[in-house]
Amino acid sequence: MYIVGITGASGVIYGIRLVEELLASGKKTAVIASRTALLLSGEELYPGNEFHSVRDILAYRNVSYANLVEYANDDLFAPISSGSVMFDGIAIVPCSMKTLGKLACGIDDTLMLRAFGVALKERRKAVIVPRETPLSEIHLTHMLRLTRAGAIVLPPMPAFYHKPQTVDDMVNFVVGKILQTLGITHHLFRAWGNV
Ligand SMILES: Cc1cc2nc3c(=O)[nH]c(=O)nc-3n(C[C@H](O)[C@H](O)[C@H](O)COP(=O)(O)O)c2cc1C
Repeated sequence: MYIVGITGASGVIYGIRLVEELLASGKKTAVIASRTALLLSGEELYPGNEFHSVRDILAYRNVSYANLVEYANDDLFAPISSGSVMFDGIAIVPCSMKTLGKLACGIDDTLMLRAFGVALKERRKAVIVPRETPLSEIHLTHMLRLTRAGAIVLPPMPAFYHKPQTVDDMVNFVVGKILQTLGITHHLFRAWGNV
């Protein structure tokens, strides 16, 4: 099982697309969205719409979510709160600087933070996709701390060697990199050399 956390940083689409790709590849997937992520989805992705869950967003995008498990971020009693429940990895996409700070300090006061903390202590795949620019020393220190604790910091930096033509191409590049990091085969972009 893979867990996707979505926070209220710009670029919620990265998290949504990651969930869609995991579901399309048949992986058991759980998602946790912060309150701000859901508010931002209405603001940034589909202005004028109000979403109360990731399932709402997938429904709006006509994507089937029958196999998606969604947890509320305040549901600290959810199974994935415990290290005794196995999951293969977690990715927080996009990751706000607020959530980054809490992760780096081990403040597990939401389900998303707790599940990520579990992944770190159990030495499972733990990826963050921080979204902010420019970065302060505080942000950089938090990223270094998480890297040293075993997390993979994967900023959503576009590449151009795969010749992106659309925004979707650029989003798919980042989502493909996340899947690659989680050890999941994808066809979202062609590797350098096969272009
Ligand atoms: C339109 C909008 C865009 C934002 N973009 C970012 C961003 O790119 N990075 C960031 O760290 N915070 C961003 N924020 C601020 C976060 O939403 C805010 O810090 C929030 O408390 C994050 O909470 P969460 O991590 O629980 O989702 C943005 C806020 C708004 C309203």
